[in-house]
Amino acid sequence: MRIAHLSDVHVSRLGATLTQSRGLIREAGDGWEPIQDSDGWRIEMQRAAGRTFQRLDHFRLVDDEGVVLETIKFKGQSEGAVIDELVHSMQVRKRSSAASLAEDLPDAAELKSLLAENPANNNLRFCAVAAQLLELDPEYVLITGDLTDDAVGFELFETALATFVADRRLVVIPGNHDIYASPPLVTTKALRKTVAEKRRLWGAFAQRIGQPMATSFIRDLGEGVVLACLDSAHPPNIPGSASGEVLAHELEQLAGAFDARGDDSVRICCLHHHIANPPADVIGSTPIQAGMKLRNAKRVMDTLNALGFQAVLNGHRHLGYRFHPAHSPLFLAAPSATMGCRSGHAPYFWMIDVDADGIHKASEVPVALHL
Ligand SMILES: [Fe+2]
Ligand SMILES: [Fe+2]
Repeated sequence: MRIAHLSDVHVSRLGATLTQSRGLIREAGDGWEPIQDSDGWRIEMQRAAGRTFQRLDHFRLVDDEGVVLETIKFKGQSEGAVIDELVHSMQVRKRSSAASLAEDLPDAAELKSLLAENPANNNLRFCAVAAQLLELDPEYVLITGDLTDDAVGFELFETALATFVADRRLVVIPGNHDIYASPPLVTTKALRKTVAEKRRLWGAFAQRIGQPMATSFIRDLGEGVVLACLDSAHPPNIPGSASGEVLAHELEQLAGAFDARGDDSVRICCLHHHIANPPADVIGSTPIQAGMKLRNAKRVMDTLNALGFQAVLNGHRHLGYRFHPAHSPLFLAAPSATMGCRSGHAPYFWMIDVDADGIHKASEVPVALHL
């Protein structure tokens, strides 16, 4: 069978990530006057006072959460042209929202034109990945966490991968972005979520796609292949850290369940955080990423080794690698399927060929963005 393993899609409300500039959050009444309003989105203008240093009028686009998305300095071009430009930008951004795309998936032609306007938009890029997966039609699609940037947009996975959802061929595990509290400095107050709220959203999503409510679970894929899904999205007490941990009792449950199985099926484990660091010189300039690690990696590794796992699949670092030390499982890390790899490579995902005899092949499949 073939398993498509992708990770770190980071779908979001409008398709930008928390780490991308989202503009400043401004309160009303700061000298900007609305000149157009559409479903809570505004185009606003600030007239230069006579003695300002620059003497320029400004126009800006503000979304329905009060986030300034774009500002244009008015330098004497036609005022109508500036407004038209912002209206067009508003329409493209609204259409690229996870909610709009999920409600009405774009066909190939519309997706191409939206991507031409906004090639870095993660929501649009994910639609392209999903279309490619439908075409390749692997037996399973496995996403190893950070499906969303801040727990917004799960519905896009349900719609865009509906074919896989329908016969339970989509398997997902959560990443830190799906679960950890929204960072206060970059998320507007109205959109901020706690860990408990995010866990509820994840649980509801998992249920809708027919997965167990428990986030660590075992899934028999058939053909003698068993997948152990581990939830490593447990934050430390350090604010802002993206490190993770697999809960001790879930590891024990996993060990108990596999001991009870006692079969000779091929065992594959997936979790969001990495257990193995590839040797630094394999990747070259790969930075050590502070606050990213799996805090109990050694214990997880010992458990997986004792249970005879043949492969461990992860995401999280936006770094793709294949690493197979002797007497160890194959470690296969997927980069971001939308933003690409820290090595500089364009987005790709793994296609894994596996059956009861083991893993035969793992190939990098470049995402077809048609840009
Ligand atoms: Fe990520
Ligand atoms: Fe992550």
